[in-house]
Amino acid sequence: MDLFEYQARDIFEKHGVPVLGGIVATTPDEARAAAEQLGGGTVVVKAQVKTGGRGKAGGVKLAHNPDEAAEKAGQILGMDIKGHTVHRVMIAAGAKIAEEFYFSLLLDRAERRYLAMASVEGGMDIEQLAVERPEALARVAVDPQVGIDDAKAREIAQTAGFPAEITDAVADVFVKLWGVYKGEDATLVEVNPLVRTEDGQIVALDGKVTLDENAEFRHAEHGGLEDAAAADPLEARAKEKGLNYVKLDGAVGIIGNGAGLVMSTLDVVAYAGEEHGGVKPANFLDIGGGASAEVMANGLEIILSDPQVKSVFVNVFGGITACDAVANGIVQALEMLGDKETKPLVVRLDGNSVVEGRAILEAAAHPLVTLADTMDGAAAKAAELANA
Ligand SMILES: Nc1ncnc2c1ncn2[C@@H]1O[C@H](COP(=O)(O)OP(=O)(O)O)[C@@H](O)[C@H]1O
Ligand SMILES: [Mg+2]
Repeated sequence: MDLFEYQARDIFEKHGVPVLGGIVATTPDEARAAAEQLGGGTVVVKAQVKTGGRGKAGGVKLAHNPDEAAEKAGQILGMDIKGHTVHRVMIAAGAKIAEEFYFSLLLDRAERRYLAMASVEGGMDIEQLAVERPEALARVAVDPQVGIDDAKAREIAQTAGFPAEITDAVADVFVKLWGVYKGEDATLVEVNPLVRTEDGQIVALDGKVTLDENAEFRHAEHGGLEDAAAADPLEARAKEKGLNYVKLDGAVGIIGNGAGLVMSTLDVVAYAGEEHGGVKPANFLDIGGGASAEVMANGLEIILSDPQVKSVFVNVFGGITACDAVANGIVQALEMLGDKETKPLVVRLDGNSVVEGRAILEAAAHPLVTLADTMDGAAAKAAELANA
């Protein structure tokens, strides 16, 4: 889960990373009040959207007094930045910047450790820097068992060429940012810019944090960080029911067991769709190993309530849960959903107990269900039905 900058700021503060005051506002009046609360001086009005490059896009503006903060907030609220509508701004205390640096800490999956990156050329164009002058971006491996202790922090600062007189202060901030990474179970912590102010303070002026959702169980406090307003309503309902569902834009609903099988199903449906008016998959849904009737019903219910869905392709490979159990699940799910269901289903079963499974569906003879022999045949049928 990616966090908003203001959420990252709060988490930084909690771990002792130096940040400036920041208050969220959703209206120009709130922005004025926030600027007053910060002392009435110069502030920066910052769009809160989960994308980088806000500064370049006009989403970060200086305001010299509370009235100007309200005016700038009025300009930024509602703005579209790379497809993200700005619903909130953060009013941040204005820093007098002497130098801008860069720091990030991320997972290095290939090397099975973490990677710290730092540069004394921070600011807005770090991606460009990484491409054009990679030598200006220090990359230092971080052993997960050790993390960033004082020695490692100094190594990062020295490799990146930070001025000697600020090594102590910068190293201290790196150690605290490791505290954020480890303590919050993050997969990314990025500070761009980390600045030296004119009076010599090291401050994190921007923060990007991605939390590892697999560690949610040990962070009850992270629940409140989710952006409920931005979540797709179908995805939110699926999540409540514990389903692995991702909404897509097409017309063929997809249910399968196993992420790999579902991914291939998306491919064959997209391919078959080329022959049938360009129809595409409507979603990803992996019902996993134990496809009980209830899980099948929950999945079907979510997919069928998507108004874009015109047909559904159920693609199951019987393994530990055999095809007869899945077939019973489909029959019971259709019973649970009752008469309100009018969209056609194409079912392809294979694997363990496939003969029994098919027999169950044939005996049920549900008018909306078509049985298919092969995955390609089923994809073509589902695409054809969606295009009818
Ligand atoms: N609180 C602040 N005070 C002064 N300048 C700021 C402040 N926050 C950001 N800036 C300036 O605006 C630039 C862009 O802001 P930043 O928060 O990094 O957004 P983004 O990375 O999305 O463009 C920074 O590099 C910095 O120069
Ligand atoms: Mg930035």
